[in-house]
Amino acid sequence: MIDIHTHILPDVDDGARNFEESLKMIKESIKQGINHIVVTPHIFSPYIKCKTKNEIIKIFDEFTKNVKDAGLNVNLYLGHEVSYHIRIFDYFKHGEFLTLNNKNIILLELPYDRELETFEDLQYNFECYGQSLILAHIERYDYYSIRKLKHLKSNNVYFQINASSLMKSHRYFKKANKLLKAGLVDFIASDIHYNRINHMQEAYEFVTKNYGQDVATKIFYDNPSQLIL
Ligand SMILES: [Fe+2]
Repeated sequence: MIDIHTHILPDVDDGARNFEESLKMIKESIKQGINHIVVTPHIFSPYIKCKTKNEIIKIFDEFTKNVKDAGLNVNLYLGHEVSYHIRIFDYFKHGEFLTLNNKNIILLELPYDRELETFEDLQYNFECYGQSLILAHIERYDYYSIRKLKHLKSNNVYFQINASSLMKSHRYFKKANKLLKAGLVDFIASDIHYNRINHMQEAYEFVTKNYGQDVATKIFYDNPSQLIL
């Protein structure tokens, strides 16, 4: 499996706090059946102290060497989870954040407290620069109805949900299923932090059982390998 949204890189955001914790998280990912991991530290988050792009690149290079030395059989890729910022498009033009694995695709976290009225302008601007957007954990934005999301979906806008949202007791279980039923889910990722449980295998089995093998293969393998690897 391919996990496109993780906070495994050590000591850069609210994810893994040190290398030992990163290794533990990677070992768990491998157990879950994941062999490709995109590390996506936060940037521009109003809640988290974030490192700069250049600092992240340096830490990632060192990290991949150390993971290899530890003998773990996993492929690592770099990106950012980019929190919406009023200057996000300027930041993009100045190369201040990372797309996923250097491809033309951006993992974007929207504000939670209000709908971004200018989203369609933003999407259009990125489209003009050949960039696609993946909206991170789309189920979490309470202001977005399924109807609204159908309207927002376009050829350069993709939706990601978290694997944990498909666990029955989860607050967003219903919404995540409505999205799957509507065919609006392009990616499912762990969004793993040191203090969260990795549910990718369970989520994969859940989607296979309830929505069919073709849908599961598309979400967990085909879309990420075609668009990001
Ligand atoms: Fe995240």
